[in-house]
Amino acid sequence: MTLLSPVWTALLYLLAAVCFILALKGLSSPKTARRGNLIGAAGALVAVVTVFLSSRLENIPWILGAIAVGSAIAAPVARRVQMTQMPQLVALFNGVGGGAAALVALLELGHAEEPWVRVAIVFTLLVGAVSFSGSLVTFAKLQELMTTRPVVFRGLPVIMGAALLAAIAASAVVVVTGAVWIAIVLLLLGLATGVLLVLPVGGADVPIVISLLNAFTGLAVAASGLVLGNVLLLVAGTLVGASGTILTRAMASAMGRSVAGILFGAFRGGSTAGSTAVSDRPVRSSSPEDVAVLLGYAQKVLIVPGYGLAVAQGQHTIAELQSALEARGIEVVFAIHPVAGRMPGHMNVLLAEANVAYESLREMSEVNPEFKTADVALVVGANDVVNPAAKSTPGSPIYGMPILEVEEARQVVFLKRSMRPGFAGIENELLYEPQTTLLFGDAKDSLTKVLSAVKAL
Ligand code: TAP
Repeated sequence: MTLLSPVWTALLYLLAAVCFILALKGLSSPKTARRGNLIGAAGALVAVVTVFLSSRLENIPWILGAIAVGSAIAAPVARRVQMTQMPQLVALFNGVGGGAAALVALLELGHAEEPWVRVAIVFTLLVGAVSFSGSLVTFAKLQELMTTRPVVFRGLPVIMGAALLAAIAASAVVVVTGAVWIAIVLLLLGLATGVLLVLPVGGADVPIVISLLNAFTGLAVAASGLVLGNVLLLVAGTLVGASGTILTRAMASAMGRSVAGILFGAFRGGSTAGSTAVSDRPVRSSSPEDVAVLLGYAQKVLIVPGYGLAVAQGQHTIAELQSALEARGIEVVFAIHPVAGRMPGHMNVLLAEANVAYESLREMSEVNPEFKTADVALVVGANDVVNPAAKSTPGSPIYGMPILEVEEARQVVFLKRSMRPGFAGIENELLYEPQTTLLFGDAKDSLTKVLSAVKAL
């Protein structure tokens, strides 16, 4: 006897599924993202409570204990994480999801009579294990616990191919015989494949692979829905799989790369590993007061925010600078590159935190023609997304990536701390051009000084 009838259970699952769809819809715009997130969390709560009320569960204290331990770890971590570390947190949570799906599938093997259920089980096992170990490696790369560069060694493609063939053979044996020990071998092969798949990915491509692994976890969870006969898991997993796939493709195309190139480019030597050598060619550097004069007497200023603005937490100061310039009758627009920062929508989230009006933000395709008419392009902690090498240097790790065309502006001002390159590890020729001025220092400090100098004009 359960507390909920099958009809009520189905209705509540439907409600949760609607919440997940509304959550995705909400997350597609910065204006509605917060609400979308809350709706998604409410849907997850409905789903979990429905499972408790509609199933004859055993070991309830163990289940509640596991939920308590998971929540006690995840909640403080999610609260404390820096915005710039969000991709690694997503990697970790995603990996745990894939691993959980794989473990559920392994436990269900003992009850699986029909071969088609075993097909779903081996799929969940393999894809969930790949997602788990692959996500842990991406976490280690982004957290710099290991090198962020592609790791390739002789024979890697052969080992990868062998692991994949062995996994396919083991899958076939498990489907036919249901042998648990072969399923454990399959799990280990999946774990090894996940590590081997992600090792050759480096640099700017790692966050894209997180999104791909997120799609994998979605597929594993959907397949576990088939195994357990749970429609909601099937729906939720399919939504995660589909949205992860769309996001992966969108990020890859914003960086001018193909998904295959991202995964296997390092085998051909076409990796995203640039050189971190810093040249000692002369550049034009300037004082905050000089930059304030350039900005304060301009008619139109385009601000290009990047990863460094997020690191410096300069969003509130940049919003104040915008207001100060607008008070002088200057048109100020933020030019947003789709992969500026380290995660999709990073700059939108950052600027929304400082209440910068959405109307001041322009997407790349919309804003690029405007650089020609801008007096100053103020580049704050951005580098790769304005690097003309993306257009002019075949063979460069970012070649083919659409960029913000700041070089078209009359004056370009870079706020950065040093001559070090950006994420892709390559030099930016624009730093040496005659129309470019550099203001060295932490972005927030520099913005504060420029702001008070503008106010004093
Ligand atoms: P980057 O090219 O990484 O450049 C950031 C710049 O900020 C660096 O030049 C750095 O120079 C400067 N900086 C760092 N900390 C600073 C601070 N406290 N104050 C002032 N400057 C600081 O950033 P971007 O232009 O935003 O490009 C993003 C990169 O990430 C691209 O390569 C993109 O492909 C990659 N990526 C993004 C995503 C998404 S979805 N957003 C996903 C994958 C990869 P100094 O060290 O000299 O200060």
